[in-house]
Amino acid sequence: MTKQNLVVFYSWSGNTKSMATMISQFIDCDVYEIKVPGATFSDDMYATSDTAKRQIETGQLPELMGPLPDFSQYASIFVGGPTWSGAPSTPVLQVLQTIATTDATLIPFYTHAGTAGQYEQAFAQAVPGMTVLKGLGLSGVTGNQTEQRVRTWLSDLGYLS
Ligand SMILES: Cc1cc2nc3c(=O)[nH]c(=O)nc-3n(C[C@H](O)[C@H](O)[C@H](O)COP(=O)(O)O)c2cc1C
Repeated sequence: MTKQNLVVFYSWSGNTKSMATMISQFIDCDVYEIKVPGATFSDDMYATSDTAKRQIETGQLPELMGPLPDFSQYASIFVGGPTWSGAPSTPVLQVLQTIATTDATLIPFYTHAGTAGQYEQAFAQAVPGMTVLKGLGLSGVTGNQTEQRVRTWLSDLGYLS
């Protein structure tokens, strides 16, 4: 049977994947990793950044490898990804276009290297009219303190019993 909660994430270099795994250990959820075709981004951060900026300028968000889950099955969707130029990464923006057709409550989670910028504002702007709860951004994804932060955040939102 489909669960109530979905954790969906994109991770370019593994950090957000670790965070997604941590969340999935604390709540009862399905997990889906967003993937893009191999040639979409370079292994180089700066080239990837240029590609992502071009995708946003032209409105040509990246193609995703499918099939995507049926997002309408879930009451709550945790949507994770890295911070790119102070905002959600383009694969996350792309999947949000599909998620935006559902009635789900969204919860952003994200990783960054110290400058998350206006990540959560940009996330909310991508899904106008949807309920978006307080997110969590982490610049380190290991250790007991990190686990405690994730637990406290989930508990404050009412996802931990
Ligand atoms: C294209 C690109 C742009 C980035 N822009 C930012 C940024 O604006 N601020 C920041 O703190 N980190 C930035 N980073 C670093 C990532 O957000 C950070 O390493 C994140 O944890 C990576 O998550 P991932 O391993 O799930 O891809 C950027 C990384 C890339 C590849």
